[in-house]
Amino acid sequence: MSAEALYDVMSTQRAIRRLRSDPIPDDVLSRILTAATWAPSGGNQQPWRMIVVRDTMKKKALGDMYTTLWEKFAAMYRKRFEGLSAEEQAKEERTITAGDYLCAHFHEVPAVAIVCFNPKMMAVTDAKQDRISVVGGGSVYPAVQNLMLACRAEGVGCVLTTLLCQVEGDVKSLLSIPDDWYTCAAVPMGYPVGGGYGPIKRRGADELFFEDVWKQQISL
Ligand SMILES: Cc1cc2nc3c(=O)[nH]c(=O)nc-3n(C[C@H](O)[C@H](O)[C@H](O)COP(=O)(O)O)c2cc1C
Repeated sequence: MSAEALYDVMSTQRAIRRLRSDPIPDDVLSRILTAATWAPSGGNQQPWRMIVVRDTMKKKALGDMYTTLWEKFAAMYRKRFEGLSAEEQAKEERTITAGDYLCAHFHEVPAVAIVCFNPKMMAVTDAKQDRISVVGGGSVYPAVQNLMLACRAEGVGCVLTTLLCQVEGDVKSLLSIPDDWYTCAAVPMGYPVGGGYGPIKRRGADELFFEDVWKQQISL
């Protein structure tokens, strides 16, 4: 693969919330899951597991929980973009509509990966800092990103979601997740309703990178 082709994939890897109910063939799903296993993790411990939920009743239960959380989130999110331009508001409104679509169709999405992690298997080098710890997540989310890139390679749409973490206890009991394992994402996967992948809006490297010291603009 050329560098251009990879950059094209990465720069059009956007959240896809409108997913069709058509099943993902087992061989396709198998390649997607295998790609997730290739991700790096601290000490190569791979302290994550994913439950691929395909059972309609379980997806319905997850979808009901997700919808309650999404509705609260969407109301809050709308307030946040009240001051934006009409054009920007319209864009954010499209995101909300797509999220509403996901809620209405959650149970029809062919597969939802529930990402679990075990903190005891993690090298959490910032655990004792007097702030929220993030290093542990670094042993899990690369696998999620690999999963999502593999979805892309297979023409499958997906979106990384985390709202269900707010009702982790309910998700754990629904899916029989053991006490010492927790959840950190849910990734609905399915073929996109529309074109799926496309342009993304991100801050530029000039804003996100510094040279040698904090805030010193990098010269490239
Ligand atoms: C840590 C994390 C949590 C997210 N949680 C949710 C979520 O619960 N629901 C959702 O619809 N999207 C969720 N997203 C997707 C983001 O909203 C999306 O990636 C971001 O708005 C950029 O949109 P784009 O990728 O389409 O450009 C999450 C993304 C990340 C990285």
